[in-house]
Amino acid sequence: MTARQLALTALLNWQKDPQSHLEQHIKGNLPPKDLDLAYTICRGVLKEKSFLKATIKRYLKKDKLPKATETILLIAAYQRIFLTKIPNYAIISEAVKLAKQKSPAHASLVNAVLRNLDRDITEGFDPNKQDLSLSERYSHPQELIDLINDETKDQALTEEILIWDNARPKTFLRLKNGGHEECLDVKAAVNSPEFKRGEIYFMQLWSQSVANAAPVKDGGKVLDLCAAPGGKSLALLDRAKIKLTACDLSEARLETLRENFARLGYANDPNVTITQLDAAEADKHFPPNSFDLVLLDAPCSSLGTIQRNPELRWRFKIDQLSEYAALQKSILKAAQTLVAPQGHLLYAVCSFAKKEREAVDLLRQDKNWLLKEEKLTYPGEQNLFDGGYFALFQKNELPRIPR
Ligand SMILES: C[S@@+](CC[C@H](N)C(=O)[O-])C[C@H]1O[C@@H](n2cnc3c(N)ncnc32)[C@H](O)[C@@H]1O
Repeated sequence: MTARQLALTALLNWQKDPQSHLEQHIKGNLPPKDLDLAYTICRGVLKEKSFLKATIKRYLKKDKLPKATETILLIAAYQRIFLTKIPNYAIISEAVKLAKQKSPAHASLVNAVLRNLDRDITEGFDPNKQDLSLSERYSHPQELIDLINDETKDQALTEEILIWDNARPKTFLRLKNGGHEECLDVKAAVNSPEFKRGEIYFMQLWSQSVANAAPVKDGGKVLDLCAAPGGKSLALLDRAKIKLTACDLSEARLETLRENFARLGYANDPNVTITQLDAAEADKHFPPNSFDLVLLDAPCSSLGTIQRNPELRWRFKIDQLSEYAALQKSILKAAQTLVAPQGHLLYAVCSFAKKEREAVDLLRQDKNWLLKEEKLTYPGEQNLFDGGYFALFQKNELPRIPR
């Protein structure tokens, strides 16, 4: 299998199941260099899909092409426009070879479209200077652009977010000593002694800022209700000698959490308990008022992380926000009963949608809760942060004195 064959298979498989993660389809027995290329092409095609479609449309008589033919054209157009180190002849001949295998009736069309595109670019056509809608230029569905506009109420900021979503993501490491640094070489970091010794953990700056907002002190009892794969729990464990209960609905994700806990030295820690549960029913698992801190890093649309997960934009449906909001509210309702008097609840989502902040109104409107800190971040803030929201509340009730 070649890198382009793998990219084509992965993209077609992902199209059949857009709820799946793109990465799970990019697998094959290929040399690392080819796997990297397949990965770059797949992510690139998803980031630039509408832009590439608008660009090749110039050379097509029909609007609708079979999926395989269209995807072969997008893969080749992406390389021609964005991966300028790959020789043009190789891009075209590989695409035609793929077309002969997967859609032989269209092999000559693929050849003609790509030759015309190549000729036009060589003669000075700049695809970036085409007259395109925002949705085509930045490859976001119009429904999503409308939502972003509605949130920001600022067209320039909306466009900055769209540009950010398509930029190359930076990767960050949290250091066990509390600091952070940018990771310039992921493979080198994974193979480093520091990684093996559990001194570094891949964690984006937005997530680190949420973990840093959590008040923890030695001996404190902490419940992380949606904990997997464990990033924020581990940051709290590294900050203070807490007694942690880490939960998640997904057993598979808890398995990853256990691996991460083991790598950072918390495998057999008597102060750590790991439990599979539905957070919306957490109040049935634990006595009321039993934790000093409840962290609710809620399941959400992840709209703040489109830069890292380019496929998210294509499965966005506005109705999903209401479904997430309902789930977030039911989890928060259960979570708030578990916080001890004077204890804290930290709610977070990696989304900037208003709907996914509604859950905290439950606490905002309750005089027993005090809002201590709140932060909304749009994707691309300071050219560093993913988008997200967190709110830290303190339970203002006095401890009940037994009569
Ligand atoms: C944003 S992720 C958590 C990330 C994690 N806090 C970290 O820092 O690594 C949300 C998690 O919520 C979990 N989840 C979804 N629905 C849940 C539910 N009803 N109860 C508990 N966990 C749930 C998902 O499996 C997912 O692991």
